[in-house]
Amino acid sequence: MNLEATLRKLSYVPVIEIDHADDALPLAEALVAGGIGCIEVTLRTAAGLPSIKAIAASNVPLMVGVGTVTRAEQVAACVDAGAKFAVSPGFTDALGAACRSASLPLLPGTVTPSEVLRALDAGFTMLKFFPASLYGGVAWLKAIYGPIPQATFCPTGGIQDADIPAYLACPNLAAFGSSAVAPRALIAEKNWSEITARATKLMAVVRSARPLHRQC
Ligand code: 3PG
Repeated sequence: MNLEATLRKLSYVPVIEIDHADDALPLAEALVAGGIGCIEVTLRTAAGLPSIKAIAASNVPLMVGVGTVTRAEQVAACVDAGAKFAVSPGFTDALGAACRSASLPLLPGTVTPSEVLRALDAGFTMLKFFPASLYGGVAWLKAIYGPIPQATFCPTGGIQDADIPAYLACPNLAAFGSSAVAPRALIAEKNWSEITARATKLMAVVRSARPLHRQC
């Protein structure tokens, strides 16, 4: 699997905080019904890893990555749970080495040119840009594309619906993420219909902004 090509096709990755692993499968089904093909389940809750495991072991056609990976010691459990990729808010040499030795693709978090260069030097070319809205958003992506066009980004953090077309027009954007489609409170309420409706609406915006890309 070429992760970057897959994420470019999908264009949007919901960032999930989940409190009960029992909610993982109904959530996954609700997201798929709304056209979502990939999610990032964060380790901010104890239910994160069991939720990844439940979705990865199911027949629901949803690629699952693990988010908020901050320590090398977490990597083995993420692989065991079935995560297809890892996302970190930042980057450490230890985390990069652990993911590489586990063959787990990593999107290290970056917000400065030096951090981008350091991640590239370590062999990572698809990077998280977080928190995107606080660090310049679309203007940052455009500025960094001039001197460092070989890096591609998955921005998250504060991305609003109105910003989506401008993000998707950036050549160095693979996909973007947000919690907007499935916020923690809606998952806790088991409001699957609202989550499907939000996904459907957001993916319609994505399709009109990136019509040449297949959407799942
Ligand atoms: C995060 O890691 O919290 C994601 O970036 C989601 O950000 P958002 O809640 O602002 O969409």
